[in-house]
Amino acid sequence: MGITGTDPLGRLRLGVNIDHVATVRNARGGSYPDPVRAAELAQAAGADGITAHLREDRRHISDADIDALMAALSLPLNLEMAATDEMQAIALRHRPHAVCLVPEKREERTTEGGLDVAREENRLAHFIAPLAEAGCRVSIFIAAEPAQIEAAARIGAAVIELHTGAYCDFHADGDLAARDAELERLREMAAYAHALGLEVHAGHGLSYDTVQPVAALAEVVELNIGHFLIGEAIFRGLDPAIREMRRLMDAARAR
Ligand code: PXP
Repeated sequence: MGITGTDPLGRLRLGVNIDHVATVRNARGGSYPDPVRAAELAQAAGADGITAHLREDRRHISDADIDALMAALSLPLNLEMAATDEMQAIALRHRPHAVCLVPEKREERTTEGGLDVAREENRLAHFIAPLAEAGCRVSIFIAAEPAQIEAAARIGAAVIELHTGAYCDFHADGDLAARDAELERLREMAAYAHALGLEVHAGHGLSYDTVQPVAALAEVVELNIGHFLIGEAIFRGLDPAIREMRRLMDAARAR
């Protein structure tokens, strides 16, 4: 069973993003807390895959973390990365189960906005071809916009991941009308992408308060969640934090 592709259980898959375990480690240097240990705990708690973002500036996950995760994990690894030559070479060396292409700016705190596939269609088509040939499922992290979805389909991506950051931000700001409009956009675009033959994932900024309406979108087959879970783990431990997310996802799906 892979984190992408047909899941025989038919349940919504959870990819746990462990970047911020590395953030805490890097605050002091040294070797703990260890992202591999977090990945193993996440698996025991019901994660279907592990997601790690190797950023250009290596602010959290390091090259050595990717080596260690590839060696230790029995779950599929979803490697998030910018569409650069350096990252392509790393992905081709490791051949992770999935590669998710994200936009990256050095000055941003987290991934802001989706990749502009429509603007970079030609370059990205050439960029993803060797990754797909190497057996990686290529996913593109995009805003819920028809032009981006159509471009992702045209360049031959297997998967799109819809950016849920705006939906979560509106929720946090208490702008419920804007939040609900964004959720409607996510719903429509998930259906549109699915109709074009793309597998649909979603993620960014999701928490216990925001996960269920996204989990209920029928075409979405995988959620990738990190920052909230690692934060929540400080208070209740990583295993219970993930189990509660799993429970909420499954409950939303069962309705
Ligand atoms: N999906 C993608 C493509 C991301 O870039 C990130 C953040 O690295 C996530 C999901 C997870 O977001 P968060 O850490 O806010 O849950």
